[in-house]
Amino acid sequence: MNSNQRCGIVLAGGRGTRLWPATRVVSKQLFAVYDKPLIYYPLATLAEIGIRDILIITTRESRSAFERVLGDGSQFGLRFSFASQAEPRGIAEALLIGADFIGTRSVALILGDNVFYGASETIRKAVADSTQATIFTYPVTDPERYGVIVFDVSGQPTQIVEKPTSFLSSHAVTGLYAYDSSVVDIANQLQPSSRGELEITDVNRAYLERGDLSVVRLGRGSAWLDTGTADSLLEAANFIATIERRQGTKIACLEEIAYRQGYVTVSELQKLADQMPAGDYRAYIESVINEG
Ligand code: DAU
Repeated sequence: MNSNQRCGIVLAGGRGTRLWPATRVVSKQLFAVYDKPLIYYPLATLAEIGIRDILIITTRESRSAFERVLGDGSQFGLRFSFASQAEPRGIAEALLIGADFIGTRSVALILGDNVFYGASETIRKAVADSTQATIFTYPVTDPERYGVIVFDVSGQPTQIVEKPTSFLSSHAVTGLYAYDSSVVDIANQLQPSSRGELEITDVNRAYLERGDLSVVRLGRGSAWLDTGTADSLLEAANFIATIERRQGTKIACLEEIAYRQGYVTVSELQKLADQMPAGDYRAYIESVINEG
């Protein structure tokens, strides 16, 4: 793996309070979304755009469970490292926890509960072209739940606001952020917000103010799904199930992505399948091997 290539961070901590008591022992990002753990989806987003060196940040208590589920990533032709966040002190803290890991590289940070579908080409291109900071927006009907971007008449971003209390824009900022290595300095200068968190919106605002923020709009033809509540988790599972059943293909199957991206050979994929218990997932991997 080229040491100058962009690295990735998946932030998979948090208390999962909105899903209590299901999150009492098991971390939300390990819940199944239809047929695979939630964290497979953001990992797949990174793997599909060529990011292979990935730091996974979890709570202290759940770290060993993530390590057991994901291993060191080599089975997917990826490299996983793990770190913990002691308290959910904000999304931007991931950049401080990951500072040594990032070093002088550019980084893509993704939230461990964000599911993107049908956007990988757009994302891949935008991240490849990104020199300073690139964020992605998605139109939503409930912008008050998110960070939003306000555009001027010429389509230029003018303002970025976290959880607006009155309507400003329907363009929500998704949980995928591409930054250059200077992001660590920006994160180091942040002060906690009124909710006591190091806000990712403040990081993005710093890039916006110095004219270095690119905003890419995802929209029709792609999906960005939220999995923060029991309802949104169920909707995401139904969405994945509908497409997978209809097409007979899997979304965010890390083994298949590894094979199609050339990260693992067909014999390595076969070995992975051989280690799986009999069932739909193994049968699917075998069909990928047989159909090519
Ligand atoms: O989902 C996109 C939204 O994510 C953006 O539009 C917002 O700008 C951004 O602030 C964030 O919104 P929330 O405040 O709603 O994020 P939440 O606190 O739900 O955290 C998102 C995920 O990140 C969640 O799975 C838990 C994890 N997390 C969050 C915090 C604050 C951590 O692992 N550690 C943390 O300290």
